Amino acid sequence: MTHASESIGILDLILSEHKYMRDEYEHFKSVDDTAELSPRVRDWIAYVALHGHKEEIAFYPKVEVYLKDEKKGGHHLIEHGIKEHRELEVELKKLAEQSTITWEQIRKAVAKLMHHLDEEETDIIEPLRSKLDQKLQLELAQQFIDAGRLASKKPHPEMSKNPEKAPRDNIDVGLAEKR
Ligand SMILES: [Fe+2]
Ligand SMILES: [Fe+2]
Repeated sequence: MTHASESIGILDLILSEHKYMRDEYEHFKSVDDTAELSPRVRDWIAYVALHGHKEEIAFYPKVEVYLKDEKKGGHHLIEHGIKEHRELEVELKKLAEQSTITWEQIRKAVAKLMHHLDEEETDIIEPLRSKLDQKLQLELAQQFIDAGRLASKKPHPEMSKNPEKAPRDNIDVGLAEKR
């Protein structure tokens, strides 16, 4: 089924962003020229960082309550997701700070990323399929898109890992960068 961008629900929107991150990495492998690879990797870092920040502002806090019945518990899952974002941001930040992008550092960031995407899809996205009706999925998609105007595109491993503090921290850091 195809969707206009306005009619995509939050779960498929997040999955489509995950797909873009994976596809870009596959593309990196086919690029031999570092001069060509570097700007593309830098755009990818910004995309990945922004995605996680949007989740922390507009997705995780909204869906925690719907994950309460799952065996690991909603709060635990969200807390774990944010912790993985920060670990990923440690590696993304090192990559962003390299004057010449290295494959060794791309692989370190990708290892953290792939682990997180797989786990988020299994433990959060799929269980929510049966919990969020279409109307709510569309509303949350719009909020997720709107959060992109507040959130930072830079890796911030230092931001709060606390699910209560992370959304506000994200907005403060993001808005400060846009000033
Ligand atoms: Fe995600
Ligand atoms: Fe995530």
